[in-house]
Amino acid sequence: MSILFNEGTKTFHLYNKEISYIMTVLPNGHLGQLYFGGRIHHKEDFSCFLEMSCRPMASCVFDEDRFFSLEHIRQEYGVYGTTDFRHPAVEILQGNGSRISDFVYQGYEITDGKPKLSGLPATYTEDEKEAQTLTVSLKDPVTGIVLELLYTIFAEGGIIARSARLTNQGTDSVQLTRAMSLCLDLPDCDYEWMQFSGAWARERHLKVRRLEQGIQAVDSLRGHSSHDHNPFIVLKRPTADEEQGEVLGFSLVYSGNFLAQAQVGTHDMTRVLLGINPMGFSWKMEPGECFQTPEAVTVYSRKGLGDMSRTFHRLYRKRLARGYWRDRERPILNNNWEATYFDFTEERLVSIAGKAKECGVELFVLDDGWFGARRNDHAGLGDWTANPELLPGGITGLAEKIEALGLKFGLWFEPEMVNRDSDLYRTHPDWILQTPDRHSSQGRSQYVLDFSRREVVDCIYERMAKILREAKVSYIKWDMNRSITECYSGVLPADRQGEVFHRYILGVYDLYERLNSEFPDILFESCASGGGRFDPGLLYYAPQGWASDDSDAVERLKIQYGTSFCYPISSIGSHVSVSPNHQVFRMTPLHTRANVAYFGTFGYELDLNRLTEEEQQEVKEQILFMKQYRRLFQFGDFYRLSSPFDGNITAWMVVSEDKKEAVLGWYKVLNGVNLPHTRLRLQGLGQDLAYRICVDQEEREGVYYGDELMNAGLVTSDSASGEVSRSQKASCDFDSRIFVLRAED
Ligand code: DGJ
Repeated sequence: MSILFNEGTKTFHLYNKEISYIMTVLPNGHLGQLYFGGRIHHKEDFSCFLEMSCRPMASCVFDEDRFFSLEHIRQEYGVYGTTDFRHPAVEILQGNGSRISDFVYQGYEITDGKPKLSGLPATYTEDEKEAQTLTVSLKDPVTGIVLELLYTIFAEGGIIARSARLTNQGTDSVQLTRAMSLCLDLPDCDYEWMQFSGAWARERHLKVRRLEQGIQAVDSLRGHSSHDHNPFIVLKRPTADEEQGEVLGFSLVYSGNFLAQAQVGTHDMTRVLLGINPMGFSWKMEPGECFQTPEAVTVYSRKGLGDMSRTFHRLYRKRLARGYWRDRERPILNNNWEATYFDFTEERLVSIAGKAKECGVELFVLDDGWFGARRNDHAGLGDWTANPELLPGGITGLAEKIEALGLKFGLWFEPEMVNRDSDLYRTHPDWILQTPDRHSSQGRSQYVLDFSRREVVDCIYERMAKILREAKVSYIKWDMNRSITECYSGVLPADRQGEVFHRYILGVYDLYERLNSEFPDILFESCASGGGRFDPGLLYYAPQGWASDDSDAVERLKIQYGTSFCYPISSIGSHVSVSPNHQVFRMTPLHTRANVAYFGTFGYELDLNRLTEEEQQEVKEQILFMKQYRRLFQFGDFYRLSSPFDGNITAWMVVSEDKKEAVLGWYKVLNGVNLPHTRLRLQGLGQDLAYRICVDQEEREGVYYGDELMNAGLVTSDSASGEVSRSQKASCDFDSRIFVLRAED
C-alpha cells in the first residue's frame, strides 16, 4: 500500500495490491478524479484519463477555452454554479446570499494510520502500518473556508474510507447547507444499482435496477437510518454476480438522515453522492469553527458481490466494531419479549430463565416493561427505575437470581424516548424535540428527547449508569421505537435549527461512548423497532443489532440475505421464536427456525417451558451445535449461494479461514412433488481438500473434494425429487438442512 504524489503533474496515486485511486489538481485548482478501479502500474502522468472535449453548449471556466467545463470533468468534491450543473458535494450559503464556492488546491499531507473523527464513529487502525491517509487541502478564496478531503487506503482489501472537514478561516459566519462524505464521478453508467430497502419487519430487501440518465436515490428523513432504506448501495456491472465481475459498494458510517444518490449525466458519466441528507440540514460556521462529515467507505472488487461483502465484513468486524466483544463469540440468549410481552412477573421471568439455563442458554434478557409505570406502551419511558410491584428486589435482585441460575443477565432500555405519562416528562416537558406553537406528534405514544442538549444526555446517562453500577448487567438492548417529527431544539437559535438532526445523532453517539467507556464489558445490541437503525455507525458502539422485528424463519431468509451484503454475520441479531409466528402467523418446523438463526448471533425469543419435551430436547441439541460451530458462523467467511429473491431455494455457507471447515444452510420455502434432482455449487472451499459431509448431523458416505463440490456441486435432492434421504425424513414446506463439511487431514 502506498500513496504517491507527483509534484510536476500534481497527481495523487493511492494503491494497494487490489486497487488504484488516482486524482489530479485540475487547471482551475479543483481536485479532479482520474481513476478508481483495479490496481494499475504507477506512471508520472495519468493525464490521458482526463477526458476533456469541446461540447456544444458547454459553459467554460476560462474565457475562450471551450474544453474546460466542469460539467464534463470528473471531480472529487463537485460544486454547483461555476459550470457544473450536477448535484454538488458541498454548498455554502454566505452572508450576501451567494451559494457559490470555488475550492482551490493548497497542499497535502500523507500520514500513516488513520486519524479519529471527533465525536463520530469511523473505521480505525490498530497499527499504523495497516493504512495510510492522504489529506488534501483546498481553500475558497472568497469565504476563506478551507476544505480538507481525507482518503484512507488500507493495506488489505479494495477499501477507500473518505470524509471531508470544513473550517471557516474567513471573517464572516456562513451556513453549510450540504456537506457530503463522498462524491465519486465514474466515467460511464454501465451499472446496475442495488439498494436494500423495505419497511418495518421487511428490512433490507434487495432491489436492483439499471442505472439510467437522471437521478436514482435512497435516503432517510426520519432522524434514524430507517427501515425504509439502508445507508448502503452497490453499483455492479450487469454481468457481475456473486463470484465474478466489477462491483462498487458504498457505505455510510452514520445513523441519522442520509442520502445515497447516483446521477447519470448527459454523456453517461455517473456521480455518486453519499452523506448527511441535505434536506433540512444546515450548519452555522462562525469564523474558526469546523465541521466534520461522517465517514463513507467504498469497497471495489473485480471478484463479484461475494468478495465485496466479505471485504466489508472483515473491515466492519475487525476495524469498525470495537471493544471486549469484538472478537468474542456472542452469548446464546433468551429474550422474554415474544414470550411475555408486558405480561410478566418476576416469578415467570425466573422460570423462563431456569428452563433456558437447562437447555444451555447463556444469557437471559429482560425486555421492555420493567420500569416506572410501564405496563403497556403508553407510560413509563424515561423513568429508568425498576417497578417494585413487578421486581421487589429491583434490577439488582433479579440480576442476582438470574446469575444464581448460572446465566448472565441482560436488560432493555429505550434511552432516547419519553412517554407523556412519565415522571421525566412531568418534570421536564421542555426536554422533548418540539416546535414552538406546533402540535407535537406522537409515535407509539412517545416523544423523542432532545439529545442535542447536553443536560438531557447527562441525565439519561446518570439514570442508566446508576442501574449498571448497582446490578450485574452483562448486556444491553438499546431500542428506539419512533421517527423524529417537529424536529426543533428549544435551546438553539433560529439559525441553528438545521443542525438539530445531526446534533441529535451526535448526542446518541456520545451516550453510547460514555456507557462503552464506563462499562467496557457490557455487550450492546442496537435495535430500532427491529432493524430501523441497522447501520455501520452503531456497529462502532454495539457490535450486534436486532435485525428485524419479524422473527419468522422464512421472512428472515430475505432480511438476513439482504443484510449480509454489507454487514458481518456476527452483527446480525437472529432468534428462534414460536410457531405459529407472531408476525406472519406461519407454522415452521423448529429445525428451520434454528437453521436460519445460526447464521447470526443466535438465541431464543420464546418461553422454552411451553415447548414439548421432545422440542426441548431438540433445543438442547441446537444449542450444543451452535456452541460447537459458533466461531465459524460468526467469524468465518460468508458466501451467498442461492438467493431468496430469485426463487424457492435459499442457500448460504460459512467457511473457516483455513478452509478446513464449512457449514452450509439450505432452505426450501415450498415443497413440491416429482421434482428434478438438485445440486448446489459451493464456494470458498479448498480445491484440493477432501471433505467429509454431515447432513443434519448424519454422515454421508465417502469423501468429496473441494473442486468437485465447487464445480460439479453438492447433491441436495430430497424426497420431493423421489430420493429417500438418508435420514429418512420426508421433505416438507419450510424445510431446511444444515451440511457440515470437514476436511480430512
Ligand atoms: C421493539 C423491538 O424491536 C422489540 O424486540 C421489543 O424490544 C420491543 N420494541 C419492546 O417494546
